[in-house]
Amino acid sequence: MCGIVGILSNEDVAERLLDGLRRLEYRGYDSAGIATDHDGRIERRRASGKLMNLAKELAADPLPGRTGIAHTRWATHGGPTTNNAHPHATDEVAVVHNGIIENFKSLRDELIARGRVFTSETDTEVVAHLVSEQVEAGLEPVEAVRTVLPRLHGAFALAILFRQHPDLLIGARLGSPLVVGHGDGETYLGSDALALAPLTQRIAYLEEGDWVVCTRDGAQVYDQQNNAVERPITISGVTGELVSKGNHRHYMLKEIYEQPIVVAQTLRSYLQRLDEKVTLPIPEGDLSAIKRVTIVACGTSFYAGMVARYWFEQFARVPVDLDVASEFRYRAPVMEPGGLALFISQSGETADTLAALRHAKKEGQTIAVVCNVPTSSMAREADLLLPTHAGPEIGVASTKAFTCQLAVLAALAANLARAKGRLSHLEERAIVKHLAEAPAAINAALAYDEAIEAMAGTVASARDVLYLGRGTDYPLALEGALKLKEISYIHAEGYAAGEMKHGPIALIDENVPVIVIAPSGPLFDKTISNMQEVMARGGKVVLISDYDGIQAAGEGCVATITMPKVHPLIAPIVYAVPVQLLAYHVAVMKGTDVDQPRNLAKSVTVE
Ligand code: F6R
Repeated sequence: MCGIVGILSNEDVAERLLDGLRRLEYRGYDSAGIATDHDGRIERRRASGKLMNLAKELAADPLPGRTGIAHTRWATHGGPTTNNAHPHATDEVAVVHNGIIENFKSLRDELIARGRVFTSETDTEVVAHLVSEQVEAGLEPVEAVRTVLPRLHGAFALAILFRQHPDLLIGARLGSPLVVGHGDGETYLGSDALALAPLTQRIAYLEEGDWVVCTRDGAQVYDQQNNAVERPITISGVTGELVSKGNHRHYMLKEIYEQPIVVAQTLRSYLQRLDEKVTLPIPEGDLSAIKRVTIVACGTSFYAGMVARYWFEQFARVPVDLDVASEFRYRAPVMEPGGLALFISQSGETADTLAALRHAKKEGQTIAVVCNVPTSSMAREADLLLPTHAGPEIGVASTKAFTCQLAVLAALAANLARAKGRLSHLEERAIVKHLAEAPAAINAALAYDEAIEAMAGTVASARDVLYLGRGTDYPLALEGALKLKEISYIHAEGYAAGEMKHGPIALIDENVPVIVIAPSGPLFDKTISNMQEVMARGGKVVLISDYDGIQAAGEGCVATITMPKVHPLIAPIVYAVPVQLLAYHVAVMKGTDVDQPRNLAKSVTVE
């Protein structure tokens, strides 16, 4: 998604702005640009496509200037062209913007009626014109921005540069994150701490509605009511090192391979191996009072929540509501007092999930957040933060964050069950033992990487692919299909295996590979019956199971993928590996951009 970097310095800033943008590349973008204030003029370089194109522009036509703003854009209004790339500028100001100005159409019509000429199709350009009008009318920049901000509806993080004030940057935050970085004689703006990591570790997080006036000597923050406020400077743990791919060809593959370590790391904070207990940072009394759990998330994080619903209901016997965040608020959900609302997010910035969180907070729910970025908006707004320790996830397709989320959610389910008096010590010991086995089992699953690569051609040539599973393997089927379509662009759908005969089986013919996820366990026989129904209609089945499962049902499959035999509790954690690897190898075969697939963003900060 879009990214912002701004620098006020005593030296030229273009190179460092470009470096900041490189750190934001992983978020997904389709054009980029930089503007500086130099010799009484605002100058810009912009390019569609990858940052390499912007770097070439800068090499051919360097951009001097000691104050500048930069942006990676993920197109919302208007295609990913150079003209639509940020910064948007008039003679007086340049603006970069994350988010969406929802009332841009009426503002644009109004500005055009006053004779302003637009050069892009973006919503952002209205901000440049609105601020510029005020400056041209003689207002000082601070007054100009103060006048314009209340007119903007929607979600935004803004950084604004002023031609006549090379010692000034103004930022604003409503709905999209923005941080202020403090250096020695330098001040920075960034859409996250990562963008500023090589520049400074001293970071202040703006709150909703804040705006900030930055000079080289520091920053003054104002709240939405324009009161001067202090936002504490924290030391960010993010280092300036660019996360490397190690020996791997792609970040996604590296992150798949990191799973044994990061799942173990995550589990360490939630399992007490010596006492064979699950321990969460929540008073037992608070947990026992919970009458209902509402789980809300998007995409892969939603599928982790879907697995958790089986666990919460099975172990703790607590009723669970589950929603995709983009729909949650719009069905007027009924939330009784005393409920726990649980939000799951790798980034902690997904706009739909954040909006759902705020809605649940207003409804008096206790807010729990499972999140991989402890400084994110969601983490900071949670009553109860349950961190995943996956480390930075750079590949746009989520992998290690998913398995770490599952690890935390399994521990939460067990803790809830104990607090509710539904889990004996023996049962708890068994859960701890099974969870502690997960990292080694993931390692064993990774050993089948070459075998998966060898059969990936079966899927790579297909136009449509189906994934089937039952119980906790049903969300995994959905996740497998999501991974495949995201990075290989092959149409794929996941279904509950038993649901096939109610419609989707009509899609089956000899051209449709059907990936069946069926670990040995209580649902194995039923899933295999559904698989047989597919085979009877000519479907090309790929069975993912353990040795026993493949011995029992592998005959007639076009391919099988053998997994270690694991307890059903950890099966979704372990079986995530083959669906991730399959999607990865198919994408590599198809030659797609695995780490930054087309049209996708890592952190989706627009609703
Ligand atoms: C899929 C993927 C997305 C994210 C979704 C939520 O591979 O990465 O579906 O899971 O955008 O993002 P977070 O977890 O950051 O809220």
